[in-house]
Amino acid sequence: MVGLFFALFLLFMAGRHLLSTYDLTVDDVKSIVTEAHSVLTNDGRIGTPDVQYPDRRVVLAFYEASTRTRISFETAAQRLGITSIHFQATGSSVEKGESLLDTMHTLDAMDVDAVVLRHGSNGAHASVAAETRMSVINAGEGTTAHPTQALLDVSAILERRPSLSGCRIGIVGDIRHSRVARSQIDLFRRLGASVVICGPETMATFDDMPNDVEQRSTIDDVLEDVNILSMLRIQFERLNSDEVPSLDDYRKRYALTTKRLANHKDVLVIHPGPVNVGIEVDADILTSQQSLIRRQVTHGVAVRMAVLSRLFAP
Ligand code: CP
Repeated sequence: MVGLFFALFLLFMAGRHLLSTYDLTVDDVKSIVTEAHSVLTNDGRIGTPDVQYPDRRVVLAFYEASTRTRISFETAAQRLGITSIHFQATGSSVEKGESLLDTMHTLDAMDVDAVVLRHGSNGAHASVAAETRMSVINAGEGTTAHPTQALLDVSAILERRPSLSGCRIGIVGDIRHSRVARSQIDLFRRLGASVVICGPETMATFDDMPNDVEQRSTIDDVLEDVNILSMLRIQFERLNSDEVPSLDDYRKRYALTTKRLANHKDVLVIHPGPVNVGIEVDADILTSQQSLIRRQVTHGVAVRMAVLSRLFAP
């Protein structure tokens, strides 16, 4: 059955890069999610597809820290028989001053098929896509985009709900610096959900926020009428010292505490991770029936298998 789904999926999908959610139509998103769900087994684990790509080579190039994205792409590649090569900027010739594009040209000259790239500069991924022959999959780009995160969020939600159409989704936390929020807002809205946002003044919104996204003052205002709550961490590494809020104030106005969630038993909680446990989310919420946080990680592998297969479809 898994093989049949994969074969149908590969006939349907074809694309050279995944730079942003904007590269995907709604039908593409639905197809990726259907494919991801098809590799999940009844006991909640990840099956092995019949389709394999033993002649394909992917470099996982991470210029910023990652646990979930890097390892889920690596395990997704392994399950598809793809050779994955890990490149970490630390310990590479980047430390001798080699530029991103020179490094990418070097990988390209080794006849690598694709690069899964995490980089802190907005626009880096498009430059690599324009300058090399490799397919580029965006694994996190500055404050701009994290498309596979938003895809896995949708995949995890759609395991618990039939559709996003008519859903109300709250996004709470450091929205301004969040590539996840940007990708989520695009996909959630195009799949028919309405979005409300909330965060401290220095991180509440970004310049090109769509007009139909509502802004609320506190997490309590958000919880009043949402079906799904997407919690974001404060991105301390992207903040100037004068932008860091008082953590006491933050907890009072924006944290998802056990007590708050107990008053909203129908709300599902997602978080891209890593979680600043005890700041934006209380520890026991991670294992709550209302939390998809750990399940999102499993969907991350399944979605990244679907994305890699899409790239390598004949
Ligand atoms: N959500 C996410 O991108 O996590 P990592 O930084 O661990 O990859």
